[in-house]
Amino acid sequence: MKTDVIPTIKIEKTKQSKIKEVDFNNLPFGQILSDHMFVCDYKNGVWQQPQIVPYQNLSLDPSAKIFHYGQSVFEGMKAYKDDKGNILLFRPLENQKRINISAKRLAIPEFPESYFMEGLKALLKLDSDWIPTTDGSSLYIRPFIFATGHGFHASPSDEYKFIIACSPSGAYFGGKVKVLIEQKYSRSANGGVGYAKAGGNYAGQFYPTQLAVDKGYQQVIWTDDTSHQYIEEAGAMNIFVRINDTLITAPTSERILDGITRKSLIEIAKDEGIDVEVRKITVHELTEAAENGTLKEMFGAGTAAVISPIAGFGFQDKDFDLPILENPFAARLKKRMTDIQYNRAEDKFGWRVVVN
Ligand code: PLP
Ligand code: COI
Repeated sequence: MKTDVIPTIKIEKTKQSKIKEVDFNNLPFGQILSDHMFVCDYKNGVWQQPQIVPYQNLSLDPSAKIFHYGQSVFEGMKAYKDDKGNILLFRPLENQKRINISAKRLAIPEFPESYFMEGLKALLKLDSDWIPTTDGSSLYIRPFIFATGHGFHASPSDEYKFIIACSPSGAYFGGKVKVLIEQKYSRSANGGVGYAKAGGNYAGQFYPTQLAVDKGYQQVIWTDDTSHQYIEEAGAMNIFVRINDTLITAPTSERILDGITRKSLIEIAKDEGIDVEVRKITVHELTEAAENGTLKEMFGAGTAAVISPIAGFGFQDKDFDLPILENPFAARLKKRMTDIQYNRAEDKFGWRVVVN
């Protein structure tokens, strides 16, 4: 089968929808799965017939390489519904491109754009009733690819599975977010896989993050792996800092995920007339600004987290609180971005995609 053509998708509908069991007014993040999933297997050097099937367990060989060598990559996206019932996506081609950037780094075959986009749209149409319309909720979409080929040889698999699963979800964080600036452990290193959304990047963060959680923080802010002097990003978010009225975020690199929320916010902020600097930020600059009162805001930005204001940060046994502002940039930028995502405002950037 040629992979650059629009695929025909084989659809098997569920016989028993689970939607009645869901309390859409009380949605956790990523716990509830919708009725269907999109699945496509790679074997004999090609992506096979794509399918949509009822959401179900998988059966895998215990020697499948995903279990032993962590050959897997994923994406995070959201679908929204406006008050006319339109299904909306936000910059979906960016996710499609990024999963292939990640796949390449993990020696996973690229997944064709037409399969990704057509599969996603067909799945959303089928599970359209699963897209929440309650305030602050959306359908979280998780495309992922992993190695299903079997055998203990430490080499790339010859078989893979691509899946898109969907989860009606509420906020990623409940309550205030306090972060700990990490100076011992590293999330990524030059020449490594930090820029990829590889499953192992997250597994490697769990232990240091748990240590931070035990101390009362929700997330770690990673610093560069060589000097630990520069702040980079958080576990699932890029980081923005406001000093006086300038918004600053670290440049992306081979260690940092090129976040779609981050690059959208840079454009929105510029459009709002806010001074934006994409440059390295030292921990020293941050603690100094916190001490002299010029540090006004910090927030994390990501698909799952949207814009999550940071209430304070810890560094070397000292806690720094951020002021509570009346009209923070975070709230202004979040409104601009979510108004575009939920089709409540004009989209001058052309980022919104209607699924039809
Ligand atoms: N950084 C990391 C490590 C992430 O996992 C995420 C989430 O996807 C982000 C940043 C934000 O990226 P995006 O805005 O594309 O969701
Ligand atoms: C996302 O924001 O979509 C992510 O992938 C973060 C995830 C680790 C929850």
